[in-house]
Amino acid sequence: MGFRDTKRHFPDKETKVISVINQKGGVGKSTTVVNLSAALGDDKKKVLVIDFDPQGNTTSGYGIDKEELSYDVYDAILNDYPLEDLIQETCMPNVYLVPATIQLAGAEIELVSAMARESILKGIIEDVKDEFDYVFIDCPPSLGLLTINALVAADSLLIPIQCEYYALEGVTKILESMKMVKSRLNRNLELFGVVMTMYDSRTALSKQVVDEVNKYFGNKMFKTVIPRNVKIAEAPSHGLPIIKYARVSKGSLAYMRLAKEVVRRG
Ligand SMILES: Nc1ncnc2c1ncn2[C@@H]1O[C@H](COP(=O)(O)OP(=O)(O)OP(=O)(O)O)[C@@H](O)[C@H]1O
Ligand SMILES: [Mg+2]
Repeated sequence: MGFRDTKRHFPDKETKVISVINQKGGVGKSTTVVNLSAALGDDKKKVLVIDFDPQGNTTSGYGIDKEELSYDVYDAILNDYPLEDLIQETCMPNVYLVPATIQLAGAEIELVSAMARESILKGIIEDVKDEFDYVFIDCPPSLGLLTINALVAADSLLIPIQCEYYALEGVTKILESMKMVKSRLNRNLELFGVVMTMYDSRTALSKQVVDEVNKYFGNKMFKTVIPRNVKIAEAPSHGLPIIKYARVSKGSLAYMRLAKEVVRRG
């Protein structure tokens, strides 16, 4: 059954395209894309996940073997391959995925000389996005042309911030890029929200970091904080989102709560 055969949960609502971005590495972007999309799918929302990071962590997080892929998102971006044909089913009902492989690394350079190089991703999702309630784009840890494409394609941004020293370092850079894209390429771009990840309730540091980020972002911060949880870290090695791997673990419940908050926000 293809993605066009399943129905949207909110057919009358405009599709929300959300890019998950932070140029800092290892803060929980891919983990959030996999587990939040899975929780939304579990709640019957129809979701498209676009892996836009050459590392392909979201692709493998959903158990898709990158070695077996003949085509990936790179082919849609630079070889005019229809995105439609790249959309795969996942282990979660209602969740579909466009995979990425290391091939996408080449796009960062090849895009430089492409026509309308910042808006290619936006263009290719146009034909399919109305089929979904949510589209999530997982960004690489940089502010290069792939990420700029994700900023242009998105309606809003979700920024995961890890509970650690210097958590806010670099965040101003994301906001600057957002401002630049907003003024020149995507007037409607908004900040959807900030989610704190890898919270450790045993340390004072985690609490301090949450307070600090709260001062900076106020009500843009999601109330749900994602705990540091070993099941979350284990799940990708089984190719499963946490909700499938350990449904009643703390990490799984947190992502389910986050999904509810996301739906309430729009
Ligand atoms: N809540 C959590 N509890 C425990 N481990 C986590 C949690 N969130 C993420 N991790 C682990 O931290 C590492 C980095 O997470 P992830 O890959 O999601 O970050 P990222 O921001 O996508 O990284 P990159 O910038 O390289 O794309 C992974 O090994 C992941 O399994
Ligand atoms: Mg990642």
